[in-house]
Amino acid sequence: MTQILDGKELSVQIKTEIANHVRQLTAKGHRAPHLAAVIVGNDGASQTYVANKEKSSREVGFTSSVYRYPESTTEEQLLEAIAFLNNDTDIDGFIVQLPLPSQINEQHIINAISPDKDVDGFTPINVGRMVLSEECYVPATPMGVCTLLQRYGIETTGKHCVVVGRSNIVGTPVANLLSRKGFDCTVTLCHSRTRDLASITRQADILIAAIGKPEFFTADMIKPDAVVVDVGIHRIPDATKKSGYRIIGDVKHSEVDPLCSWVTPVPGGVGPLTIVSLLQNTLKAYHRTHPNCD
Ligand code: GUN
Repeated sequence: MTQILDGKELSVQIKTEIANHVRQLTAKGHRAPHLAAVIVGNDGASQTYVANKEKSSREVGFTSSVYRYPESTTEEQLLEAIAFLNNDTDIDGFIVQLPLPSQINEQHIINAISPDKDVDGFTPINVGRMVLSEECYVPATPMGVCTLLQRYGIETTGKHCVVVGRSNIVGTPVANLLSRKGFDCTVTLCHSRTRDLASITRQADILIAAIGKPEFFTADMIKPDAVVVDVGIHRIPDATKKSGYRIIGDVKHSEVDPLCSWVTPVPGGVGPLTIVSLLQNTLKAYHRTHPNCD
């Protein structure tokens, strides 16, 4: 029988744990952790993501601030904003929501973020530390995938995990994390140039679907009893919804779900855990500068 890796329910549980912790801190007279977000332009999906991050921050008792800049912002102007956030001791961690407008080089911006405040785990220093299994900030989506597998007690040791998609934000770090000691998966990382993808995904005990194509993974690509983690988030126009759209993933759930031992729904799977990971990283950043508060 297929069981659900319920990211929504797990996120509520972890957020309650964080909120209790923050309550204890503030009861002792310490300030609350502070997460800031920078958003440039008017991209609809980015606005939603940042609004959700702000809402979740407030729910757990964090201070939250959002710095909004117009679409026409230059790289120099954004670098100035980053320098300000790097130096503001009231802010524990911050993210720069991606994508950025085309006149701004994303890597230049990421490189300017202080690794100590890089709660997205995107800077070269944090990526390097992660690969070396050193103390670091792990990117939020891969961390969310790991949390779901861990908290649901999914057996990973020696399992064949196939990751499809090699983005810097999801596929590459997930492949790294699940091959490490602790998870001990045998990992295959597939991408757009992989030949006969279905023959590889059919060997997956654990499939991480992060290709970025709506309902790409169909029943013929799945090994019976596989664990399927769907990282995709796509907005599809839907006139029957108040919002005018509905969210679907990279997996065709109507046909894949009955084959799985465990599966993440979309929405309500990896997505809620991504935000929770960001909150966990912010708490870690807070404790870096407040070493004697537990
Ligand atoms: N855009 C899509 N996902 C992310 C994320 O995890 N962090 C940031 N900063 N931007 C994103």
